Amino acid sequence: MPKITSVEGRILYNSRGNKTIEVDIESDNQFLGRVCAPSGASVGKHEAVGFPQGGPEKSLQILNENSSKFLNQDSDDLQSIHEILREIDQSENYSAVGGSLAFAITIAAIDSAAKSLNKPLFELLSPKSKLEYPFPLGNILGGGAHAGPGTPDIQEILVCATDAKNIREAIETNFAVHKELKKILQTEDPSFTNGRGDEGGWAPKVDNDKALELSAKACENLGFTLGKDISLGVDFASSTQWDENKSIYAYDRAGFTNTEEEQIEFVSNIIKKYKLIYAEDPVHEEAFKEMVELTTRFPESYITGDDLTVTNKKILEKAISLKSCNAAILKVNQAGSLYDAMKFADEANQNNIRLITSHRSGESIDSQISHIGIATKSKMLKVGIVGGERIAKLNELIRISEHDLIRGMVEL
Ligand code: PGA
Ligand code: ZN
Repeated sequence: MPKITSVEGRILYNSRGNKTIEVDIESDNQFLGRVCAPSGASVGKHEAVGFPQGGPEKSLQILNENSSKFLNQDSDDLQSIHEILREIDQSENYSAVGGSLAFAITIAAIDSAAKSLNKPLFELLSPKSKLEYPFPLGNILGGGAHAGPGTPDIQEILVCATDAKNIREAIETNFAVHKELKKILQTEDPSFTNGRGDEGGWAPKVDNDKALELSAKACENLGFTLGKDISLGVDFASSTQWDENKSIYAYDRAGFTNTEEEQIEFVSNIIKKYKLIYAEDPVHEEAFKEMVELTTRFPESYITGDDLTVTNKKILEKAISLKSCNAAILKVNQAGSLYDAMKFADEANQNNIRLITSHRSGESIDSQISHIGIATKSKMLKVGIVGGERIAKLNELIRISEHDLIRGMVEL
């Protein structure tokens, strides 16, 4: 078994130029696992905290003070690594060490073990099971917390090449739609700057309706039939619009508000009109009951929790018992450690909750989440569309496919 021989950390920067922590774990003095933690902009209330009081520097200090506790441990023993971490931080939400450190240590250990054992990371996380490729879900147009004034209130319009026969076709189809949408936006608005949001989707000055209409047009121009050859998705990230004091959703950029009932109709109309395969956080993060209504109305679409379920097994159990969603985002740093995230994945898979492994809007160029998406049997991998930190995850899927290690796409 590979043994941990060194643990080191450093402060680096994420794709937004903000400080984050990177952890290096070496096994048997030669196999380096290196992981740099991402961070979100539309962060759920109940997520693990990114960093403790004192920020990334405090996380690094804690790592330096405790690194010897990990030495001589088996780097492929995720549970033991997690337990050592839990002795250092016994808080519910990783407020002592920061979810970013929990993310980086646990993934770096497994990454190092995979190199030492000369196996792909996904195989260590999911030995002996039949694995398939998740469909890439690419953000083609961004607004909300990921882009500036004038862009849609809706955070993300996404594309998924649902009819693709292999991973390369799925990735290339998403790129083609993104490129076609750029042409359409340039024609619509000659002053369009080709500006992009945090995840590579275009960030034009259009309202929600226009954004959806033009995204659909991009698919149709390429000869695809929406809902058949290709599908659109939306991350509503509705907690951004939710005003708890007034109990309304405020769509400030478009200039209207929705009551709780109106929000359900607003979302339902979009799902129907654009035949969405995917609707993420269509209501705010504590609206478990309203989610039931949408999940009942649209059993064929992925009615997905992100801020709702925050990769938290207990919260997912609540969502399952109420039937609040039929799909859930898996973001390891929302949970904290990879061990926590794998437990969340088990719970989802045992209860027919379809998983979507996801990046964060502030990312690194690491690509371990592509393996995590495969190992958790995720249906989709939400990793953006262009930009080095997004492409890194897609390119890793292509590398995996070169060795014929996995065959076929998942069944959606
Ligand atoms: P993030 O959001 O900015 O919190 O990473 C992405 C999302 O809402 O899915
Ligand atoms: Zn989201």
